[in-house]
Amino acid sequence: MKVFPEFFNSIRTTLSRYLPPVYIVHEDFNKEGVDGRVIAYIDRLSYVAEQYKTLRTNLYSLSPENPIKTVVITSSQPWEGKTVTCCNLAITISYDKEKKVILIDADMRKPAIHSFFGLPNEPGFSDLLSGKVSLEKFTTKPAIGDLFIIPAGSPIDDPAEILSSTNVDPLIKKIKSAFDYAIFDSPPVLEFTDASILGSLCDAVILVVKAASTQEQAIQEALNLLSEAQATPKACVLTNVVHLLDSRYHFYKYKQKIRSTAEKEP
Ligand SMILES: Nc1ncnc2c1ncn2[C@@H]1O[C@H](COP(=O)(O)OP(=O)(O)OP(=O)(O)O)[C@@H](O)[C@H]1O
Ligand SMILES: [Mg+2]
Repeated sequence: MKVFPEFFNSIRTTLSRYLPPVYIVHEDFNKEGVDGRVIAYIDRLSYVAEQYKTLRTNLYSLSPENPIKTVVITSSQPWEGKTVTCCNLAITISYDKEKKVILIDADMRKPAIHSFFGLPNEPGFSDLLSGKVSLEKFTTKPAIGDLFIIPAGSPIDDPAEILSSTNVDPLIKKIKSAFDYAIFDSPPVLEFTDASILGSLCDAVILVVKAASTQEQAIQEALNLLSEAQATPKACVLTNVVHLLDSRYHFYKYKQKIRSTAEKEP
């Protein structure tokens, strides 16, 4: 059985917070080489970009007592929208004047974040973990706009092995002290243990579910695996939801300019 939004609503009870659906409309690259699917950057005043702002707001309020600073985004299976969600969420947080954010490609099996932003993939996270480069290499200046990025880095044989190493926890602590938010992309939970390992070291895991595609059983298995690893998701994002825009969104662009005083101007 495939997951549809109605089912997704029913699993809200098992998770602390529901994050709203988003969907993607563009696929081209802009002139800076940024993929059109990073719609929060390409078309900052669009309805879809607004959905990512709602996601950002929900992330801010997810755990007010213990603020969440390090977030792993994962899903049960491949191709469910993890990387696109990471890129849009990170860029949206970077628009907030008060927040410093870093996006990290911890999917060292299928690196993609560099290509979404037209950046080289090396050096990156794997090189940091193996001690070949220092964190400062990525934190002296932002890679795009105000967003700092650590790509996946040089290919390595066994990412799960290196993620289990003792270097990771101190590195995450260092990232945490330098940034307000760190967003980690990761491989699918049912195929690899990487997200479970990383999730147990970070403040929150967010599970991406693809509407009309991800199966209920796959979600359940992913939840079990993450929970066993002390990485129970704190929220879900539903991708692949198609909304028909109603006429009020046509006025959105004009309203947004007035409302977003806490944001940097596009
Ligand atoms: N919110 C969304 N709504 C609709 N389609 C989406 C959404 N997010 C991503 N997609 C589409 O889903 C496909 C997979 O996206 P993405 O590369 O982010 O998935 P992934 O889970 O990171 O895949 P992989 O497991 O291969 O790393 C892309 O074609 C992307 O455009
Ligand atoms: Mg991906």
